[in-house]
Amino acid sequence: MDQGFTIFPPSASEFAPHYDLLYYFLWTVTVIFTVLIFGLIIYFCLKYRRKANDQPTPTLESLRLEIFYTIVPFIIVMVMFFWGAALYFNVFVDAKDPLNIHVIGKQWMWKVQHMEGRREINELHVPINRRVQLTMASQDVIHSFYIPAFRVKHDVIPGRYATMSFTPTKPGVYHLFCAEYCGAQHSGMIGRVIAMEQDDYTNWLNGNDFGDLAPAEAGRELFTSLGCITCHAVQAPTMAGLYGRRQEVVLPNGKTEIVTVNEDYLRESITNSGAKVVRGYEPIMPSYQPSKTITEEQISNIVAYIRSLKDAKQGSAGDELPQTQPAVESPDGLPGRPPAIQPGVGPGPNRSR
Ligand code: CUA
Repeated sequence: MDQGFTIFPPSASEFAPHYDLLYYFLWTVTVIFTVLIFGLIIYFCLKYRRKANDQPTPTLESLRLEIFYTIVPFIIVMVMFFWGAALYFNVFVDAKDPLNIHVIGKQWMWKVQHMEGRREINELHVPINRRVQLTMASQDVIHSFYIPAFRVKHDVIPGRYATMSFTPTKPGVYHLFCAEYCGAQHSGMIGRVIAMEQDDYTNWLNGNDFGDLAPAEAGRELFTSLGCITCHAVQAPTMAGLYGRRQEVVLPNGKTEIVTVNEDYLRESITNSGAKVVRGYEPIMPSYQPSKTITEEQISNIVAYIRSLKDAKQGSAGDELPQTQPAVESPDGLPGRPPAIQPGVGPGPNRSR
């Protein structure tokens, strides 16, 4: 996804080259008129500068000149108008027989729902050479769904649906942005669009996208792709050294309890995140519904990943998978209070992946 320095984002949809052509046209017209107007100003300043004993001659009207400089700009702006409108309709009028995907924006993530059942967060998988139509809504404030490589962007507004369609043409991984300031973590409301061959997409829909990855590695992928890494280690506990330890947690009724962090506790914290919240943290995490938001296999991969970090140092969660996992008895007794929340401290180098 890192393309180094480029003037334009990659062009990866059917629409993108048409959009770019209009942009070049606007750019050319702007440059021509800027040069023309500034050139004439300078030329006239010199030619008609004040000279000694100069008597100005009266200026007479020229109807032909007036018609000329009214008609020509009119034609140019009408070309811009109809050209731009045609492109606009291309994206925002309902497509014929599209692949429908629903998108919900909320502070601060994009939730994506495929009609075949898969859900994802901060990622959008699409097949190439197929018209895709997004139906978008917001759960809280105004967001804006923006895929530069496809040259499409639309505001996502609470209380109504917005639609937008495009046809990806090149397989690849592209940026996904929120393009409307929507609160403190607006700049973190980013993700990836993965354009795939139709077969790969079908495979992905069926949940076969992890191939030969070991469970802990697949879990690490999920930890990033589901957006867990955005919060964990910042406003939420780090995963390093979490597994196996005895942890003080707060129940929904406000009482505290000591739990041992094991597979069951991790699974409960993923699927019913408010049940036992680590003391010192806010219950802000969304719950992931088994077989809806997340598959049982994915949960088990994430659990395997967290287990693999049991000997990792604090603050290194997600940085590296330990190569070996020596069997170490979980320490008895309580860990100290979790580190205070430090807004602005990033969760680690993996984030910019
Ligand atoms: Cu959502 Cu900015």
